[in-house]
Amino acid sequence: DKSKLKPGEKFQVKEYRIVTRNIGVIDPKNIEEYIARDGYFALSKALQMKPEEIINEIKASGLRGRGGAGFPTGLKWEFTAKAQSDQKYIVCNADEGEPGTFKDRLIMEGDPHSIIEAMIIAGYAVGATKGYIYIRGEYYNSVENLRKAIKDAYEYGFLGENILGSGFNFDLTVRLGAGAYVCGEETALLESIEGKAGRPRLKPPYPPQVGLFGKPTVINNVETLANVPQIILNGAEWFRSIGTPNSPGTKVFCLVGDVNRRGMVELPMGVTVREVLYGFGGGIKGGRELKMVQTGGLAGTFIGPDKLDTPLDYDSMKNYGVSLGSGVILAIDDTHCAVDIALNVMEFFRHESCGKCTPCREGTKVACDILEKMTKFQGTEEDLKYLEQIAYVTADSSFCGLGQSINVPLLSLINNFREEFEAHIKDKICYAGLCKEVKPK
Ligand code: NAI
Repeated sequence: DKSKLKPGEKFQVKEYRIVTRNIGVIDPKNIEEYIARDGYFALSKALQMKPEEIINEIKASGLRGRGGAGFPTGLKWEFTAKAQSDQKYIVCNADEGEPGTFKDRLIMEGDPHSIIEAMIIAGYAVGATKGYIYIRGEYYNSVENLRKAIKDAYEYGFLGENILGSGFNFDLTVRLGAGAYVCGEETALLESIEGKAGRPRLKPPYPPQVGLFGKPTVINNVETLANVPQIILNGAEWFRSIGTPNSPGTKVFCLVGDVNRRGMVELPMGVTVREVLYGFGGGIKGGRELKMVQTGGLAGTFIGPDKLDTPLDYDSMKNYGVSLGSGVILAIDDTHCAVDIALNVMEFFRHESCGKCTPCREGTKVACDILEKMTKFQGTEEDLKYLEQIAYVTADSSFCGLGQSINVPLLSLINNFREEFEAHIKDKICYAGLCKEVKPK
């Protein structure tokens, strides 16, 4: 009975490899090794299908966006297909900026052709003839492998004009980001491709209506796209047989923090936090006590050890208040302080706020100022109340997902570890012994 497992006890979780099936198996720079593993067979099959049949297959599979939000991929494609325009685009969001997340990097490094193949299929399905992969500039190996893969795909006739004799044309370009977290937000990403400063646009209209250069655009995350060829080859029913009814398929998790084994693992949706932590991660490092886990990235929920049996899928937030997001699981042991962690998280958001809207620009700064006071044992009860208000107001009034999500980590830390926040204020004590008193000047 997995729910009875204690920290330190180990058991195995069973990997299920769909998007990671070629990683470490093929030479990513050799297109023939990809082809030998059924590569570009899905493209060949798709080009013999009607575009609406492809969209229906993706819709039937229940594939949802793996960037974090879980929006149904088939619907996105359908909206774009139905939009009337002389030009449409497929954009791959490869600007993986979530701290602790590195799954897209490893997929692109290890299996770049799967992304290219999926983008051509998406282009054919929605009527787009041009694609962009917007990738973090720091992802040197991914960029190198993708560029080589694109060059080879052109040479083999998978990209360019009259692909596999179908009459369908598709061109693909790589664009490099310059290190701004907010450029992973899809509309800021579009602005950046257009050569403007990477600042978000107001949504709606959503990109399937008004996207890149004002034209209908599909934007999909790397992991989402990597599922597409396998769905086309094996069918929607096969995909639905993995994972949960509302979140079919697998999820690539990145396990980081105070565990014995960190890394990336692909598991069926619905796996529990405990299974990832102990089954894959081998438990907490040095046999220490687990204090908390953050799921879903830096904007995700901090949970206590009592919530480890939460299943991870796109309903976990709705049903259990636990985020899945991009699939990061950050394990934190008892050497860490909840207030210090809150400050760290807020400093990240303050630094990455693009400054376009006041609530996010100022809200993150005020939150940092208060938390810094608390770590110096200068905080007051009023400060704590104000911090909670700031979290709500910033989330409610910010322009984009960056500011809109700061309430989740902040309030989950305050709610789960209120005693610790109060100890810093009333008793001037840090349970982890990290914060030091600084007398106000
Ligand atoms: P969102 O919920 O606004 O949108 C998700 C996707 O669905 C977007 O592509 C959007 O265009 C589409 N969509 C939503 N409603 C639509 C409609 N009515 N018609 C057509 N399309 C529609 O979420 P957002 O702000 O795009 O992403 C938030 C997520 O990003 C969070 O879950 C977070 O975990 C994740 N994230 C991931 C990072 C990473 O590095 N992978 C970094 C930061 C955040």
